Amino acid sequence: MANSNLTNAKTAKNDEFYTQYHDIQKEIEAYLEFNANAFRGKTILMPCDDPEWSNFTKFFAQNFERFGIKKLISTSYAPDSKNYKSNYQPTLFEVNDPQFDENKTVKNGKIFTLTRDKSGDGKIDVNDLEWKYLKGDGDFNSNEIKILRDESDIIITNPPFSLFRDFLVWIVEANKSFLLIGNMNAITYKELFPLIKENKVWLGATNFNKGMYFKVPSDFVYSSTYKFEREQNGEKVSRVPGVCWFTNIDHGRRHQSLPLMTMEDNFKFSKHKEIKGKDSYIQYDNYDAIDVPFTDAIPSDYDGVIGVPITFLDKYSPEQFEIVGTSDNGLVSDEYKKTPGLTKEFVADYYKDGGTGAYKEGNPTAGFYENNIAKMAYKRIFIKHKRPIK
Ligand SMILES: C[S@@+](CC[C@H](N)C(=O)[O-])C[C@H]1O[C@@H](n2cnc3c(N)ncnc32)[C@H](O)[C@@H]1O
Repeated sequence: MANSNLTNAKTAKNDEFYTQYHDIQKEIEAYLEFNANAFRGKTILMPCDDPEWSNFTKFFAQNFERFGIKKLISTSYAPDSKNYKSNYQPTLFEVNDPQFDENKTVKNGKIFTLTRDKSGDGKIDVNDLEWKYLKGDGDFNSNEIKILRDESDIIITNPPFSLFRDFLVWIVEANKSFLLIGNMNAITYKELFPLIKENKVWLGATNFNKGMYFKVPSDFVYSSTYKFEREQNGEKVSRVPGVCWFTNIDHGRRHQSLPLMTMEDNFKFSKHKEIKGKDSYIQYDNYDAIDVPFTDAIPSDYDGVIGVPITFLDKYSPEQFEIVGTSDNGLVSDEYKKTPGLTKEFVADYYKDGGTGAYKEGNPTAGFYENNIAKMAYKRIFIKHKRPIK
């Protein structure tokens, strides 16, 4: 019980990780570089965003005119509904407003809209946001917010990490343009992977191989193993590894081909000791494909199916490659499978060789023998060259 309370507290706090302004700016500029009118005439919804903290709202409000936005809607979640219990204090801006309500300020969400120059200073910016209390608590899954979702053209936010899967379902069923921050592990979720495979969703422009730093609450406690920066631009931050942007808005980086060497040159020149000096790539035991554990070691001239780590997606260009499946969730067609799952013999060898991972019979995990030792590869994506280059 004490342990699960601790986990809840930790998850709750991780939901209060706030995106930094410069990270948003960098990502958005990539869409504008590709299409200067990406946001023109659009209604944009930010459904997990109180402008008091959210740099998403601030950034888009400040750029409202430059981007030609039609309407900005930002909704916040009621303090009493949050898992994370902070010492919530309404701002002076709210308290001094005639509509201030002591009860509603903790129990209701708020809606902020931007459409016009309310202040009359000749420009539309963050000072022109108009607000009121929502009827409910601002839960993105409530009818009240779903109606806003359905009337918008684009949804942009960093949703609560603990509800990412629910948020994904919510966004996919809306069939809208979107830009979200999430964890790379979500790539093989059954809700997301089919869309990635069909080039209906892809990764954003910023490469987060180095992890992303978020602003955290002042009472945030670092884990004993945390060894990264704790402050950036005078604010308390925490680094989250494996974070990326998911979107269906086009940008230029995804149309750049990855420069690659032929198989022969990889054996001669690869910087990876696992590849250099070899004379073949390892074949999976249960898939008709080769295992390539590093994106930069993909041979340019291989015609068959190639298994790569999920981080490959960061370098994926739909003009260069076709995605045919993943070893996770069975989201791969039978034509590439040699056996439905790993064979009993392989699994027995795996445990005999010291393997400790859990394996459920029939699970499509990719397995291979390396120097006669049975190994299971972590989450592979299967790809094929559109046009192998010799
Ligand atoms: C990861 S934070 C990010 C906030 C902001 N979008 C940003 O990037 O700075 C997610 C926010 O969503 C709020 N939240 C949690 N559950 C929610 C729900 N069911 N509906 C709407 N917002 C929720 C959290 O309280 C938190 O403020």
